[in-house]
Amino acid sequence: MDKFTYHNPTRIHFGDGQIAAIANDIPKEKKVLVLYGGGSIKSNGVYEQVAQALSGHNWGEFAGIEPNPQYDTLMKAVEMIKAEGFDYLLAVGGGSVVDGTKFIAAAATYEGDDPWHILSQQKTVTHALPLACVLTLPATGSESNMGAVVSRGTTKLAFMTPHVQPQFAVLDPSTTLSLSPRQVANGVVDAYVHVMEQYLTFPVNAKVQDRFAEGLLLNLIEEGPKALTTPNDLDVRANIMWTATQALNGLIGVGVPQDWTTHMIGHELTGHYGIDHARTLSIVLPAVMQARREDKAEKLLQYGARIFGITEGTADERIDAAIAATIAFFKQMEVPTALSDVELGDNDIDVIVSSLEQNGMAALGEHGKVTLTESRRILETAR
Ligand code: NZQ
Ligand code: ZN
Repeated sequence: MDKFTYHNPTRIHFGDGQIAAIANDIPKEKKVLVLYGGGSIKSNGVYEQVAQALSGHNWGEFAGIEPNPQYDTLMKAVEMIKAEGFDYLLAVGGGSVVDGTKFIAAAATYEGDDPWHILSQQKTVTHALPLACVLTLPATGSESNMGAVVSRGTTKLAFMTPHVQPQFAVLDPSTTLSLSPRQVANGVVDAYVHVMEQYLTFPVNAKVQDRFAEGLLLNLIEEGPKALTTPNDLDVRANIMWTATQALNGLIGVGVPQDWTTHMIGHELTGHYGIDHARTLSIVLPAVMQARREDKAEKLLQYGARIFGITEGTADERIDAAIAATIAFFKQMEVPTALSDVELGDNDIDVIVSSLEQNGMAALGEHGKVTLTESRRILETAR
C-alpha cells in the first residue's frame, strides 16, 4: 500500500437526542448562522431541536439551499455573513446543505477577486469560517470529510480543503425517518458507490482498507433494502447512517488507488439533466465495471467472491456475475441502471462527453486512462 497521513478531526455525536450536544461544541461568543434547505427540518422537528440547543447563543438563519446547491444561492449567504458578522456556520440538512455551507465558509473569507475560482480554477483555499453540521440524510459522507460539490447552471464542480472539514457532526438516525423512500434509496446507493470508487481499482495489498470496504458494502446490501421494506426500523437507519459516514470519511481511501470516474460522469448527468446524484451513479457504475473490466479484473474477482460469494466459473463468467449482482442490488433499491431508464440516448451522450471535455475531465480513473473516448464508450455501455 502507498504511504499516507491520516487525520479526521470531525467529532461525531451519534444517536438519539445528540442535537443537544451542539450547545457545548460551539463557543458561546460565536455568532452562529444556521443554514438549511427547503424546509424539511421545519416539519420533522429538527429545527426546534437546533433552536433549543442554541438558546444560549446569538444566532440567525439562512434558508433555501437547494439540492445540488447553486453558486448564486450560496453567494447570497456570503453577503449576509459579511453584512451581519456571523463567524460560525451550522449546516442542518443533507449533503447539499453541508456542501453549500462548506463553500460559503470558504467564499466568505476568500481574498481573490472571484470565489467561483475556488471551483473553476481550483484556487487554494487558505482559510474558512469554522463550520459544523447536523446531518439529516445519510449518503455523501460530507459530514466528516473535506470535499464539497457546487453547481452553477449546468456546471457541477468539486473542491477539497481541510479548512472546510466540519468541526463536529451530529448524526441522529431518528432525523432520517422523515426521508422519502427515494431519498433513502439514493443515500444507500451513493454510499455504496463511494466505497466502490475507492475499492474497485487494482490490488495494493491494503488489507484493512479492503476488508473494511467490503464490510461497508455488505452492510449496505443487508440494511438498504430493509430501510425500504421496514421504514420505521431505527436500528436499520442507525447502521446505514454510520456506514455512509465511514464510506467517505477518508479512512478506506488512504494508501490505495482511487477511481472516481463514475462520479465525474455522474456529475455531468446531474448538471445537464437534473438527475439525482445517486441515480446517475447507479447508471454509470455498472458500465464502468464492464468497460474497465480488464484493468479492474483482480478486484472485480475479489469483490464477486467476498461480497456475493461468486467463486465458480471462468474469470470472465465471475466478472459478468459480479456486475449482474451489482445491477440486481441497485434494482432492489429501485434506482435506474441504464440511460434508457431515465430516457436519455445518443444525443445526450454527445452533450455529456463535450461537457467532460470543457471541465477538463479527459484523464479519469485510477490510471488516468479514461479519456473522452473511453468515457463515451462507458456511456454507450450504459445505454
Ligand atoms: O432541502 P430540504 O427541505 O432539507 O430537503 C432535502 C432535499 O430535498 C431532503 N431531505 C434531507 N433530509 C431530509 C429530507 N427530507 C425529509 N427528511 C429529512 N431528514 O432530501 C432532498 C435531497 O437532499 P440533498 O442534500 O440534495 O441530498 P444528498 O445528501 O444526497 O446530497 C447530494 C449532494 O451531495 C453531493 C452531490 O453531488 C449532491 O450535490 N455530494 C457530496 C459529496 C461530498 N461532499 O463528499 C460526495 C458525494 O459524492 C456527492 O457528490
Ligand atoms: Zn456520491
